[in-house]
Amino acid sequence: MAILPTHRPRRNRKSEVIRNMVQETNLTTHDFIYPLFLIEGQNQTLEVSSMPGIHRFTADRLIDEIGQAVELGIKAFAPFPSINDALKDRLAKESANPEGLYLKTVADIKRQFPDVVIMTDVAMDPYSSDGHDGVVDAESGEILNDASLEVLGQMALAQARAGADIIGPSDMMDGRVAWIRDVLDRNAFSHVSIMSYTAKYASAFYGPFRDALDSAPKKGDKKSYQMNPANKREALRELALDEQEGADMVMVKPALSYLDVIHVVKENTHLPVTAYNVSGEYAMIKAAARNGWVDGEKTMMEVLLSIKRAGADAILTYFAKEAAEVLRRG
Ligand code: PBG
Repeated sequence: MAILPTHRPRRNRKSEVIRNMVQETNLTTHDFIYPLFLIEGQNQTLEVSSMPGIHRFTADRLIDEIGQAVELGIKAFAPFPSINDALKDRLAKESANPEGLYLKTVADIKRQFPDVVIMTDVAMDPYSSDGHDGVVDAESGEILNDASLEVLGQMALAQARAGADIIGPSDMMDGRVAWIRDVLDRNAFSHVSIMSYTAKYASAFYGPFRDALDSAPKKGDKKSYQMNPANKREALRELALDEQEGADMVMVKPALSYLDVIHVVKENTHLPVTAYNVSGEYAMIKAAARNGWVDGEKTMMEVLLSIKRAGADAILTYFAKEAAEVLRRG
């Protein structure tokens, strides 16, 4: 005789009220950090062709975009600049120019919206004539770790002076968190936070971002500093170092193909964990939705929820505004 089930998990799914009651993970707009692309000029909004719905903004328009996002409840932003080729050099000197596009705009944003949180990006690639995150040895083509620290420290300090709330080193040089912490502290910026890109993988999912900012490496790839997608334990080693070096928050990037890494990082730290839902992850969903192959809105919400469920306390995502609209509708 067949045995009827004594345990029936479906009872906890029998109505919407009960499903909501037992829901383990929830998304709110407080979870979102909205990445933004900044370009030179005025009064221009250019769509990134591989990222439908995402634009490159001149500073004035970027401020408008932030205003709209704030209305939707988004309070944290991560701007990234596209720098004119004429201003790029081997040592990324433009990155510490307080009158340059990026730092002037950061200061403007903080003047207009003192309560929003701005996380600035520390890496040489937007300013580097080599398109790498660190200093490239002109002869060997090697990425020089300790020479890069000098540049990254000055970049971070200039960003703190411009009003950055959080410094986000995305360069993956060894020792940069300790180096930046020290530079900030010695210059009276002990209140400025560091969100370290702790486990940043050498990923194919960054393609649309590099198109948007024209920041692809001129030669070679980033595998000597970004992590091998095959490695998970190595993320824990990077985590331990970032904790020792004084990071306030840690990040896993990309998010979607690295949910296991987010999970294991979360299990091994008391620091807040964030994840970067990167450009290629955004592009994939948009492309499939445009073809009518998936429901774009539902897929977006499921992906964001999965990143949070894996252990992320906050998510950098290009979906921030769209998801905030969905949350507002309820
Ligand atoms: C640069 C940087 C990259 C991204 C954020 N900061 C690209 C890279 O490392 O080549 C990618 C973000 C995205 O794809 O959305 N240091």
